[in-house]
Amino acid sequence: MSIQSVPLLDFQRQYRDILPTVSQSVSRVIESGAFILGPDVSAFEKEVAQWMGARFALGVSNGTDALFIAMRALGIGPGDQVLSSPFTFFATVSATVNVGATPVFSDIDPSSFNLDVNRIEDILKKDHQKKIKAIIPVHLYGQACDMEALQNVAKEHQVHLIEDACQSIGTKIQERKTGNWGSFGCFSLYPTKNLGAVGDAGILITHDEHLAKMAAAIRTHGSRERYVHEWVGSNFRMDTVQAAALRVFLPHLDNWIRLRQEAAQYYDEQLSQLEGIVIPHRSPFSTHTFHQYTIRVLNKKRARLITHLKSQQVGHMIYYPIPCHLQKAISYLGYQAGDFPLAEQAAQEVLSLPIFPGITSQEQDYVVAQIRAGLAS
Ligand SMILES: Cc1ncc(COP(=O)(O)O)c(C=O)c1O
Repeated sequence: MSIQSVPLLDFQRQYRDILPTVSQSVSRVIESGAFILGPDVSAFEKEVAQWMGARFALGVSNGTDALFIAMRALGIGPGDQVLSSPFTFFATVSATVNVGATPVFSDIDPSSFNLDVNRIEDILKKDHQKKIKAIIPVHLYGQACDMEALQNVAKEHQVHLIEDACQSIGTKIQERKTGNWGSFGCFSLYPTKNLGAVGDAGILITHDEHLAKMAAAIRTHGSRERYVHEWVGSNFRMDTVQAAALRVFLPHLDNWIRLRQEAAQYYDEQLSQLEGIVIPHRSPFSTHTFHQYTIRVLNKKRARLITHLKSQQVGHMIYYPIPCHLQKAISYLGYQAGDFPLAEQAAQEVLSLPIFPGITSQEQDYVVAQIRAGLAS
């Protein structure tokens, strides 16, 4: 049967074989009547910490809250600045604003779409008042930032490193997974992520026992002992049903990542031959786990290509059409178009294509054929 459409992602195919086991696990939670934290969350935390190679893992409500907790645990708040990428999901920024700090930005490396360490160093050198308290590198699309270089810069300027690893679960830099390089690694388990829950969920990892304890307290209204509140935290707990489902999914994650990498390789081979398309960069120091397979469409041809892909039912998405510094929500900071030209150009050119475990080579051929036709139209 000839292919006539390809979805951006397809959960059915990913979960088909394991759905009965997930249902059993979720039913077990419902029968137990224990719905918040509990043994399943603790077991998931141990299992995911081991998989990550982290000392401590904390199950939380979502990735945004993981970032918030990390900043709070490090004492970041009003008067402080937090340096990150203008080319990320806005959650990185909203978590910063919500702890009371001010987001500041540094333009991206146009090949990896991630923070450019040289620019970061320049900004820190000019921060004479030492207002910048933390850097949040975002491992966008599953491609790692240069964490070894960032660690050196952070150490020299005495700022914290908090990894926004929401899109990069399992990405390795010299065998050490993302999230293990900063004081905290923050992960989203939003359903579309490479490890997705059956609703909202997140994980926070750290190697520091004190920070792990602080984070656990902040997750539960700043208390270590029931009804004794030492800090003002909030409710950032993980639901037990999420942990029960995630415990079934986690053993499949390595295979799911491998399938994404194989699909990415297949796209690379075909799309690298097309003029006007730039395939995803592979950093020499890390793996790429392809949460997204994101190309650049050059020569202002993206809008026309999208019209064609829509007409041929090829799933696609722009992550992200407006860089953070130009979002209305933070217009009070006074940023303007032209402030971070490389992020702004990326926002004009990026296009994410269908990628998920179970996508077939015939489907990928269809996507590539439609891109070729769309570029020629
Ligand atoms: C880069 C980045 N940061 C933060 C988040 C926030 O995660 P969540 O949606 O789980 O709150 C996401 C998820 O969408 C993300 O992609």
